[in-house]
Amino acid sequence: WVAALPAAHAADPIVIAHRGASGYLPEHTLAAYELAIRMGADYIEPDLQLTKDGQLVALHDDTLNRTTNAASLFAPRNGGYKVADFTLAEIKTLTVVPPAGGTAQNSYPGFTPANTRLEVPTFQEVIALARQQSALTGRTVGIYPEAKQADPLMEDRILSTLAANGYSRAADKVYIQSFSDGTLRSLDAKQQAQGTDMKLVLLGAAITPADGVGRVAVFGATGTTLLSLSEVASFADGIGLVINYAAAPLSKAFIDQAHAAGLEVHGWTFAQSDKALAAAEYQRYLEMGMDGVFSNYPDLAVAGVQAF
Ligand code: G3P
Ligand code: CA
Repeated sequence: WVAALPAAHAADPIVIAHRGASGYLPEHTLAAYELAIRMGADYIEPDLQLTKDGQLVALHDDTLNRTTNAASLFAPRNGGYKVADFTLAEIKTLTVVPPAGGTAQNSYPGFTPANTRLEVPTFQEVIALARQQSALTGRTVGIYPEAKQADPLMEDRILSTLAANGYSRAADKVYIQSFSDGTLRSLDAKQQAQGTDMKLVLLGAAITPADGVGRVAVFGATGTTLLSLSEVASFADGIGLVINYAAAPLSKAFIDQAHAAGLEVHGWTFAQSDKALAAAEYQRYLEMGMDGVFSNYPDLAVAGVQAF
C-alpha cells in the first residue's frame, strides 16, 4: 500500500513523521515508520534512548512503562522500568502497546507492514527501514533522530551509527535534534573534528521580549535559558519550536527573524488527537513560513504541503 503522491511533491517544506505515523499506529514502531513513509513523509523521527549495554533504541520516554508491556514481563521496580537498566536483548523481548488513552491502534486499514512484530526498534533498524523503503518507493527518505539524553556516549553512538550508514553531509537528509544546547554544541564540535556537517536542530520555544528581538527558550535541567538567534546559529542549522507554548504563541515575525539569522524553522506538536485541527494547523504554520512540520498524521501534512 502506497499513497498516490503528485509528481510535483515538494521537498520543501518538509514533513517529519513524529515518532512515525503515530496518530495511526503505535509510536516508535517499524510499522508506524513504514506507514509514514508510504504516506509520503520526507523524514521519520526516532527519539533515542541508550540501553544498559550502550545500544540506541527508538523510544520517547526514559522508561519502558508507557509504551511497552514491561510491567507484565519484568519484576516490579521502584521508579519504573528505566531503559538504561535493561540490555537490548531484554528490551527486544517486549511488545510495544498503544499508550493508555492514546489514539494509535495496532492496525491501519489496507496497510500490512513488512515488519508486523511490534517491538522496540534500534536506531540502526530505523535507518535500515528508511533505506529499504527509499529503494521501494523511489524517494529518499530522511531520518531525524533526537538525542533524548544529554550524554556524550549518546552523541558518540549517534554519530558513529550515522557514519556507519554513510551519512556525513548536510545534503544527506539527516537532522540531529536535541532540547539541550550543550548536546548540540558538543555535536557541532565533534562534527568539526571528524569533518562532517550534518544538520543540527535545537528544540525549544520562540520568545519575543519587549525589545522585539526574538530569542529561543531552552528548557534545561536547571531551568529555562534564553538564547539569541545568532547564538543558536553559531552551533545549529535550525530550530524546532513548540507551537503551543502558552507564554508566547509562535508568530510569523519570529520565523522571519529566524530565517534572517540563517536558521530553518520546524514546528511541533500539532494537534495529536484531532485530525481536522491538525490539518488546519499545518496549513496555518506553513503559510507563516515554517520550513517543516512534525506530524502525527503524515498523510494530512503531505496534503497540506501539496496545497501550499
Ligand atoms: O522532536 C520534536 C518533538 O518531538 C519534541 O517533543 O516530546 O515528542 O520528543 P517530543
Ligand atoms: Ca522528538
